[in-house]
Amino acid sequence: MKKTDIHKTKILREDELRDAADILLRGDTLIFPTETVYGLGARYDSDEALRKIFEAKGRPSDNPLILHVADASWVENIACDIPREAWELMKAFWPGPLSLVLKKQDHISSLISAGLSSVAVRCPSHALAHQLIEAVGLPIAAPSANPSGRPSPTREIDVLEMVGKVDGILLGGDCMVGLESTVLDLSGENPLVLRPGAVTLEEIRTFLPGAQRYLGDPQKAPSPGLRHRHYAPDARVTLLRGSERALLSFIASASPTSCFLLPSDLNIDFDHVHTIAFLPEGHPEEAAARLYALLRDADRAGMEEVYIAEFSSEGIGEALMDRVLRAAQGNILTLEEV
Ligand code: TXA
Ligand code: MG
Repeated sequence: MKKTDIHKTKILREDELRDAADILLRGDTLIFPTETVYGLGARYDSDEALRKIFEAKGRPSDNPLILHVADASWVENIACDIPREAWELMKAFWPGPLSLVLKKQDHISSLISAGLSSVAVRCPSHALAHQLIEAVGLPIAAPSANPSGRPSPTREIDVLEMVGKVDGILLGGDCMVGLESTVLDLSGENPLVLRPGAVTLEEIRTFLPGAQRYLGDPQKAPSPGLRHRHYAPDARVTLLRGSERALLSFIASASPTSCFLLPSDLNIDFDHVHTIAFLPEGHPEEAAARLYALLRDADRAGMEEVYIAEFSSEGIGEALMDRVLRAAQGNILTLEEV
């Protein structure tokens, strides 16, 4: 199938799960909900099907795919040299938002591993995702269902933008977590968190005290996904740092095509600013669940600038600030005291 082909996209709901599974079984692409973000899936054992994922997303082929499984026992047919701690982590956090990078078995396609000797596996906790994988009876390879470089889709309205690019979309409401899974690499000498997510480094360290966050040069990153531009809307994103007073004064002079994502405890009347969203400080999981939706809404509303205040990086806050920094592509504004 060529890049320019337009797909006839079947829109399916929960009671049409069998049809959704059949789309995957016949080697076509299906968008489906998970607890983190929507995924764009294909059966893992067909290179022809896997190529359709890269075409639909416009994704560079040096970025490997996560395999989604129905339970931990499936990993035995995917990975090899699986360390004891990997089984412990699966027991503790699966089903859930933790992807494990393990040494791959030979039969795993190099389209999945992007030529690496490892493979990422994850068992989603979303009931529909789980039933879908069971119904297919095979691991499903799935990246996030956004066009490459855009924020991941977390709502039905967001995945409907992919109509014409995939063969089916299984609708399942809003994703609960809202940020992609934690990616933990157990294939090397030391356990490394390549991408922070809802399962935190602190939680991982209760099983693997030596686990570290990968903070090296993204160009040399063991997770190729870290090299690419990510999570960015069309609007320019800026991370704002400064005291409450400085923030308030900055907002007062902002243009009407600027919008702000701010902690809800900021005490101000924002009538003059076009769009504003408050993310509840102290509840980073709520802010995480809404971040991508808000970035997409900013584009829909024609905003040119999105300013995001710094949130605490406790718990999932670390993943939240990671995605904000990526969306901002290094664009940080430290406000002078007024
Ligand atoms: O929550 C999620 O993980 C979602 C849902 C759909 O499951 N999926 C997702 O997939 O975010 P994707 O392709 O957008 O991100 C996968 C990340 C990328 O940063 C990729 O580089 C990394 O995982 N990754 C996958 N396989 C890897 C491997 N073998 N070694 C290192 N990094 C890997
Ligand atoms: Mg992605």
